[in-house]
Amino acid sequence: MIKNFYGIIGKPLSHSLSPDLHNFWFKKYGILANYSLIEIELHQIEEVIRKIRNKELNGVNVTVPYKQSVIPFLDLLINDAKETLSVNTISLNEKGKVVGDNTDVYGLENSFIKKIDDQNLNQSEILILGAGGVAPSVIYALSKKKVKKIFISNRTLKKAIDIKKRFPFIDIVEWENIEAKIENMDIIINATSLGLDGGSNFNQEFKNTKTNLVFYDIIYNPMETKIIKKLKKRGVKTFNGLEMFIYQAQKSFFLWNKINPELDGELEQNLISKLK
Ligand code: ATR
Repeated sequence: MIKNFYGIIGKPLSHSLSPDLHNFWFKKYGILANYSLIEIELHQIEEVIRKIRNKELNGVNVTVPYKQSVIPFLDLLINDAKETLSVNTISLNEKGKVVGDNTDVYGLENSFIKKIDDQNLNQSEILILGAGGVAPSVIYALSKKKVKKIFISNRTLKKAIDIKKRFPFIDIVEWENIEAKIENMDIIINATSLGLDGGSNFNQEFKNTKTNLVFYDIIYNPMETKIIKKLKKRGVKTFNGLEMFIYQAQKSFFLWNKINPELDGELEQNLISKLK
């Protein structure tokens, strides 16, 4: 019989493979638990947190667009959630406090950032597209490394300005000027939801990129967003967000179950078979 209940809150959630991943690990480690999609509106966050407090729910992940909006409902922020003010993992601690943590930073550090050697990062000008829920994790993870310069651009300028208040070392590029700025960039990171399965795509052409540009898309569903396909054709080195997704889930699983699930090829193949 299922004893513990977990899930992911957000909207939309149809793209999420979190249930596949966590339920795979529950089965593998003989844990009587279930993980489900909990698609909610903003006003339902309070109810979800109440369920965690009552132990009706044992923990939730948080995704688009609630990584910041959950914070006022929590008792405590810890670790990287405190640094980023972005929460993707919630649980109840032994003192009965509802705690928000962030495993996206760990996910980024163990996937994309690991793939680029430190010397290259040192000399890189990096443009982050998007100033939403995941952007602070990207900035914070990069700031632990030495990078030449971090720029950020967001459709809604105010959100980029707000993020700069917390990370003053970044510079803002206006959304309308991305195309012009791109030619100087060594790394571009898509931290917007543009390209997500069933959603909108970039209007920008991404012309005049450096030939050795590295493009990283935090999206993993689809495996190749339109922009990745376009850039790949031009020989740009691209990565999607699948590895980051797996690593952030690994750390969430550890926080909830005190088991560090093994990452194996079977798991990755299992996920890839579900993606487009
Ligand atoms: P996440 O947790 O993935 O960061 P989010 O907080 O909802 O989710 O942020 C979504 C990001 O995608 C934001 O940067 C958003 O830009 P705005 O701040 O202007 O809303 C960006 N985004 C979503 N749809 C977009 C669109 N059609 N054009 C440009 N940016 C878009």
